Parts: sequence; structure tokens; C-alpha cells
Amino acid sequence: MAQGRFIVFEGLDGAGTSTQVYRLRDFLLDKKIPAEVMREPTNGPLGGVIRLAIEGRVSLHPTALALAFAADRADHIFNSHSGIMQALKDNRWVISDRYVLSSLAYQGAEIEDIDWLIQLNRFVITPDLTIFIDTPVEICDQRLAIRSSHFELFHSKDKLLKVSANFAKVMFREKLTGKVIVADGTKHPQDVFESFLPAIQDLILD
Ligand code: TYD
Repeated sequence: MAQGRFIVFEGLDGAGTSTQVYRLRDFLLDKKIPAEVMREPTNGPLGGVIRLAIEGRVSLHPTALALAFAADRADHIFNSHSGIMQALKDNRWVISDRYVLSSLAYQGAEIEDIDWLIQLNRFVITPDLTIFIDTPVEICDQRLAIRSSHFELFHSKDKLLKVSANFAKVMFREKLTGKVIVADGTKHPQDVFESFLPAIQDLILD
């Protein structure tokens, strides 16, 4: 059986990554390709600390938060039970809702030293493909207003504008992203899915 592949979805909060993550997982499972959805922040202990900070229940300095995201990512990659590398070794595809680009774009909104953020994440493994769901801030903001009633650190238009500008700056860094596809997040979810499907088919055949 072909080796597992590592696919990452990135985008602003409300961009529609989660919908695509599950569509892709179901598509692969339909083809009898073992596939697993993962996410960052993870559901592990370090991800738990991050969620407390994102929901405003504890306060973490942006530097500490950047380190926490990097630590959570290291556990996500190297954890021998539930990590990405183990899944790939077992020939499963990993589809991750967010990865290192999110750290550059989101933490980069508060920490100007992007090079430090890159150094901090030097340990990452390169995805086979990163799919960036490109959805304008206004649309994300409207979706978030309908969807979530509780506080979240990055759920404000001002922050999303900064994060969006950062994504544009940091998007094409091959070591961190592998091949990058930008999908138009304003389209119907099925059309978004079909826009990146050829790249997935290539990886299946590769
Ligand atoms: P999100 O995927 O939106 O999770 P949920 O659906 O539970 O809200 O991620 C939570 C937030 O974390 C989101 O605002 C993006 C942010 N984030 C970072 O700031 N840095 C990172 O490295 C990652 C992975 C996420």
C-alpha cells in the first residue's frame, strides 16, 4: 500500500477549513484509503492549555502562547501513540486542521519577529500539500458572529485583518507548507472541494 500523506488546511477562523477537512476524509475513506483528521491546537494536554488561553480563562503572554503552540505541535508530530509521524508510518493519511502557518500568521500578529517564530518551529515535518482556504475577513467575521457566542482571542475583525495580511506574507514557504494551493473560500463548499481535488488525485497516484 502507498505511504500515508500529510495534508494541511489553513485559513482564517470562519474560513471553512473544518468542512473541507471532513469532506476530504470521507472522500479518502470512500476510496478505502485510511485517513485521519487531526487538528491544532490538539486535543492533548498542551492543546488544553492553549484553549484556556484562547477562551480567555487564563492569560498567557504572546511569547508564552507562541511557545505553547510550538510545544503542542511537537507533541502532535512526535507523539508515538497519536502523532502525525506514527500515522504516516502506519500508512494512514493525516488531514490536519491548521499547522505551522497558523503560528506565523496568528502569533505573527502580536510578535513582530517572524524569524524567531520560524526558528521556534524548526522541528516541523513538511506537509505533502497545504490547502489555504481564502475567505475574506468580512465573510469570516459574519460567520463567526452567527456561530460563536463565547469569547475567543482571535475572533475580532481587527485581529483577523492582521492575521489575513500575515497569511499573505508567509504563505509560500516550502519547508513549512510543501506545495500550496489557494482555494476560493467564497464558493460553495462542493466547488471549493473540487478545486483542490486534482492535487489530491495526484498524491493518490504518486
Ligand atoms: P480553531 O481551529 O479555530 O479551533 P476551534 O474550532 O476550536 O475554535 O483554532 C483555535 C484558534 O487558535 C484559532 O483562532 C487559530 C489559533 N491558532 C494560533 O493562534 N496559532 C496556531 O499555531 C494555531 C494552530 C492556531
